[in-house]
Parts: sequence; structure tokens; C-alpha cells
Amino acid sequence: VSLVINASETSTKYIPKTLFGVFFEEINHAGAGGLWAELVNNRGFEAGGPNTPSNIAPWSVIGNESSLIISTERSSRFDRNKIALRMDVLCNHEGSNTCPPGGVGIYNPGFWGMNIEQGKTYKLVLYARSLGPINVSVSLTGSTGSTLATANIVESDVSNWTKIELTLQAKGTDANSKLQLTTTRKGVVWFDQVSLMPTDTYKGHGFRKDLFEMVKNLKPGFIRFPGGCFVEGEWLRNAFRWKETVGPWEERPGHFGDVWHYWTDDGLGHFEFLQLAEDLEAEPIWVFNNGVSHNDEVDTSSIQPFVQEALDGIEFARGDAKSKWGSVRAAMGHPEPFDLKYVAVGNEDCGKKYYLGNYLEFYSAIQREYPDIKLISNCDGSSRPLDHPAHIYDYHIYSSANNVFAAAQKFDRASRTGPKAFVSEYAVHGSDAGTGSLLAALAEAGFLIGLEKNCDAVEMASYAPLFVNTNDRTWNPDAIVFDSSQMYGTPSYWMQHFFKESNGATLLNATLQSNPSNSLIASAISWKDTDNKNHLKIKVVNFGSSSVALQLSIQGLEVNSLQSFGSKKIELTSADVMDENSFQVPNKVVPVSSELDDVGEEMDVVLSPHSFTSIDLLI
Ligand code: AHR
Repeated sequence: VSLVINASETSTKYIPKTLFGVFFEEINHAGAGGLWAELVNNRGFEAGGPNTPSNIAPWSVIGNESSLIISTERSSRFDRNKIALRMDVLCNHEGSNTCPPGGVGIYNPGFWGMNIEQGKTYKLVLYARSLGPINVSVSLTGSTGSTLATANIVESDVSNWTKIELTLQAKGTDANSKLQLTTTRKGVVWFDQVSLMPTDTYKGHGFRKDLFEMVKNLKPGFIRFPGGCFVEGEWLRNAFRWKETVGPWEERPGHFGDVWHYWTDDGLGHFEFLQLAEDLEAEPIWVFNNGVSHNDEVDTSSIQPFVQEALDGIEFARGDAKSKWGSVRAAMGHPEPFDLKYVAVGNEDCGKKYYLGNYLEFYSAIQREYPDIKLISNCDGSSRPLDHPAHIYDYHIYSSANNVFAAAQKFDRASRTGPKAFVSEYAVHGSDAGTGSLLAALAEAGFLIGLEKNCDAVEMASYAPLFVNTNDRTWNPDAIVFDSSQMYGTPSYWMQHFFKESNGATLLNATLQSNPSNSLIASAISWKDTDNKNHLKIKVVNFGSSSVALQLSIQGLEVNSLQSFGSKKIELTSADVMDENSFQVPNKVVPVSSELDDVGEEMDVVLSPHSFTSIDLLI
């Protein structure tokens, strides 16, 4: 089999700077208990609902009925999240009903355990109220009961709600720790909005550093957020409403995401998503709710408040610091506007009764006020032209490995005029993928090579979902798997590393001559690094089970421009095509790089069975 690459300027295509990016959805505890570093789960005691008595889980009680009574009251000082916790302490440090030595109170186990690390510092903020003086012991306790950090809150007058802040330094490490608030003093104490954050988040912006770096290392051209179905909700009342997620964190109501079945305090809100995009140096793509959920819809005649909500959300991102919503952003510490240029009107809603009518209202209002913003329609324009105006159309594919590999040709005949495609969710799904197999990654790599070749019809593409907390595997597979302290990339995550140089690169003509059972697909790009050095990257997926002797022929290069030094072959493969990574063996299926010693315009390369290979050349 031979692969002929034409490296001369003729018949090249410019690859959009945004072609490969990421899609962050609040699913699988990706944000709450994941990228968002807050350690307290249900920090405002709101997760049980707004009525009392409310369930405070996962907060639990330390002590028995003779020593304390825990209840909930609608007595918070914050209007949008009224539930506060009331602790009637019946025992005392002296007298007949003496408290146990460690005191009585409550603890929070975080999201399946808090990761507390020796030497690191943690900022605790809580609100407290009491009729008398309080003496509360704060401790971070390891899974075996060891105390990793401790502090005391001693206040003589907290008759009004009082904000208390302190920093704890850990003297030990335990990934399954909890936060305890205990006392041995009789009386009544109310608690509300209890937050514990590590102080070493990315730039202090609240993102868990290791997970942030995993995403950053993909060099995403964009980040689509915050969903997915999370944006829609099963019911509109549970959809993500951006206005409820901005301003001081204590005042945010939080909400129950009824599609993925968990509560979020919305610490990771509209502002934080925009900040995340900026920190990743990726274009933000905001998906907003368009009045359509899985089970109910707003009639187009009543959609105007939703249109205004979207306009306000754009003003929040882009308005100057004196505008109504820009001033809210400025007060949150970002006076400069965020660079929001793309918005998506809903998620997977094309064909719903009011989608098109609502879409047109959003489209015209946003175009009127923000003519430079590109609008993304949920309707697929790949096979026939859209019947409505849009800059970009959404396309999602979840299927078997064979189908995803074959979909490399999906956009071959898509229109080159009019809106381009945003493949905002793609993945191999089902038994071919398991919880992240090599087979899935190879099929997806073939698909992405197809997108690269069709970069004049496709503007953007992102894998889905990005994250899974292994304790809440609602959706398999995912790109990055984590728990409170560890993480690894699935083969699909590592596959995306082969496309890191593609954004903004030049696509060259690469033709396979003879392709047994169509099991090969290849592309070639040229790109310049930050030192202005020229590179050629040739990518080939061997989707078949036999090895292939590939003859590479590179034409159109300047004489002797190929350099051996720094040229390499990178391969993603494994002994078994269903191999996966795991916490135990996180690097079973990862790219392996080797030097290329015989570099030339004609080269023989052996492609392993079931493999993804890239030949990276300095020219
Ligand atoms: O990626 C998981 C889900 O798949 C998304 O929320 C939704 O858009 C799609 O159906």
C-alpha cells in the first residue's frame, strides 16, 4: 500500500483554528465533584429541596439523639437559597449530659471523599449564627479517623449571621477525608453555605489543577459548555439558567439537574465557564436553553423572556463594565469583556414543536444586537440545506466503531457554501467502546481524519463526554476518568492528542493507493511551531487486524528539506483492540513515540494491526 503526499502549495486547504476543541457538560459529576474544586457536597444544605424538613445528604450527624438534634429551617440570610441547618446541642462539656470527647455535630464526606494532601492549604468559609457564644471545632479527618488539620471557631457574638473564614493546613494525606464541624457546648447553632476549597486551584480560579491540565494539554480551539442535555433539562424548571449561577457563590440557589440526576451548587456557573475558556485559550461556545426541554416547551408567542435572557447572557460576557450585566461580571473580578463569538440555540432540539419558531426569534434578536456573533442551529444541514438562517449547524454521532469509522466520509458531499458543520458530540458508544477501548479510539481517529479532510465543510468537532467521576458513571465512555485524587485518559483522550497541531494548519493532499478492505485512512498537514520551524505530520489509522507495509512518498518538497533530527513516529495501539486504561494501569493504551532514523521522501513504515500512527517530520 502506498500513501502519496503532495507537500507543494497546490490543492491545499486551510484548517480552521477552531476545528478541534472540547465539549464540557455537567454530566457524570464532571464539574461538581470534578473540575470545580469545591470539596463540600451540598454546601448550602439546599440539595434536599426548598421545603422543610429538607434532606441534608450527604451531610451526616455525629452524635446521638440525646446529644443533639439536627433540623433544617428556612432562615438563611440569603434570599435565593433559604435553607439553613439548625443544630440543637443538648449535651455540654460539663454537667449530667456530657458530650463525647470529640464533640457532636455534622460532617461532610465531599464527593465520594475529599482529597486532602499533606502540606497543602484549604480555605474554609461558612456562615454561622447562634443565640450565645460558639466554640466549634473544624477538622479534616482521614478515612481511618486521623486528624489531618484542625482549627477552632470561637465567637462571642454571632447573633446575626456571621461569615467566618479560616485556612487549614494539612499535616497528612488521605483521598477519602471528610470535613467535621463539632462542638461540646450546649446551645443552638445555625450553619449555612459551608465551603472548603484547596487554595492551589488553577490561577486561583477554582479549577482542579490536574484535571484542568488534562484539558489544556489537548490545546482545544474552543470549549462548548455547559451541555448537552444539562442545558435542556427533563423539565424546563430544572434547566440550566445562567442568571441563577452568577454573582457571589453564597447567593446562588443551585439546582437539581434532572437529566443526569444530581444537585449542583452552581459554583461552576456562567462566569466560571467563560473564565475556563479564557484560561484554556479556547473560544467559548455558549449553549443556551431556547425554551425547550425534554418534556415541555415554551410556545414561540411566549418566548421573549427567554430571548432577553440570552441577550443578557451575552451582555454579561461581552458588555462593558458599565452595562447592566457587564457590571455584574466586572464585580466578579473580570472588568474586561470575555471573547464570546459563538452561541448555540439549544441542544438536540431540532424537530421539537417550537424549536424553529423559537430559534428564529433568538436568531433575529441576537443578530440585531450582536451582528458578529455566529449562531449554531440544532438542525443537521449535512445532507440538505437548512430551511432557516444559521452560521453553523450541529451534528452529533454516537454509534458503533464501524459506523463511526465509516462516517469519515459523512461530509464528503456536504455543501461547501452556507453554514458549516459543528460536530459538537462524537464518540463510539455501546459494546465496541466499553468504558473506553482502543477500538473506539481508532474509529474516532478515522472519523476525525475524515473531518480534517473536509475542513472546508466542517468548522468544529468535539468528543463527548469529556469527564467522568468514576463514582457516577452515568454515561460511558468518556475521555477523562477521575476520582477525588487520581485521573487517567481513555484511548479516546489520547487519540485527540494526534490532532493538537491541526488547528490553523494546512491540509495537504494525501492519497492512499490501494486500500485493502478500506481499512486505512490517512491525512497530512503542514504547520509551523512557535520557533517558526516547519513540520509535516502524516496520520494513518489501520482499522484492520493485519499489519500493513506502507510506502510513503512525499512529493513537492524543496530539495533536501527533510531532517532526521527531531523526526519521529508516534503510535497508539495495544495487544488487544478492546484494551482500556484504568487507575491500576493508566498507560496501557497511550501514544508511544520513537525516533525515525531513516527519513526521506520515500519511506517504508509498518503499521501495526489496529493502530493509529503519526509520522512527524521536520522540514
Ligand atoms: O454526551 C452525552 C449526551 O448525549 C448529551 O448531553 C446530549 O447532547 C447527547 O444526547
